[in-house]
Amino acid sequence: MTTSRRCATDADTQKAGASFARVLRSGDIVLLTGPLGAGKTTFAKGVAKGLGVTERVTSPTFTMVREHRCDNDLGIKTLQHCDVYRVESLDEVLDLALGELVEESAVALIEWGELAESVFGRDVLRVNFEIDEEDTRTLLVGGEIDEARRALVERWVDQ
Ligand SMILES: Nc1ncnc2c1ncn2[C@@H]1O[C@H](COP(=O)(O)OP(=O)(O)OP(=O)(O)O)[C@@H](O)[C@H]1O
Ligand SMILES: [Mg+2]
Repeated sequence: MTTSRRCATDADTQKAGASFARVLRSGDIVLLTGPLGAGKTTFAKGVAKGLGVTERVTSPTFTMVREHRCDNDLGIKTLQHCDVYRVESLDEVLDLALGELVEESAVALIEWGELAESVFGRDVLRVNFEIDEEDTRTLLVGGEIDEARRALVERWVDQ
């Protein structure tokens, strides 16, 4: 199964995010991993667009969590966009109660999610962002991918 997608420009990464919305289900937690400036926020903006968020999506580096209302036919009503880069302890992440935040028809995208991996007591999806030598980006999807989702991810790779 191919789960990676090359994005030549930031517009491509946004587009990849927008179509990734179709891979998501209510309750999903998606860890966005990869180095500074790799495109995690750019991708999140695209996902927001794909979920029908109309307000402006900006980096949650300082606020840690931003909540956006969604309008789509996927049954996802809320997007929690988080960034745990500046979180000083795992207790702080626990205080964000991310697991609970996504229970009610919501999904969570967590930038630097690998830093708080141990906090998430259940299966997560992962999108890793690599900065290629040519300054393009390679997005690799991993984590808990069941049969139904597998087909959606494969479709996403080709979109
Ligand atoms: N193919 C690409 N996809 C995404 N961003 C790209 C791409 N090519 C260049 N860029 C640039 O890289 C930067 C990505 O910034 P972005 O804020 O999305 O990264 P980030 O992973 O969220 O960083 P941080 O770790 O600081 O949160 C932007 O300045 C963008 O213009
Ligand atoms: Mg960011």
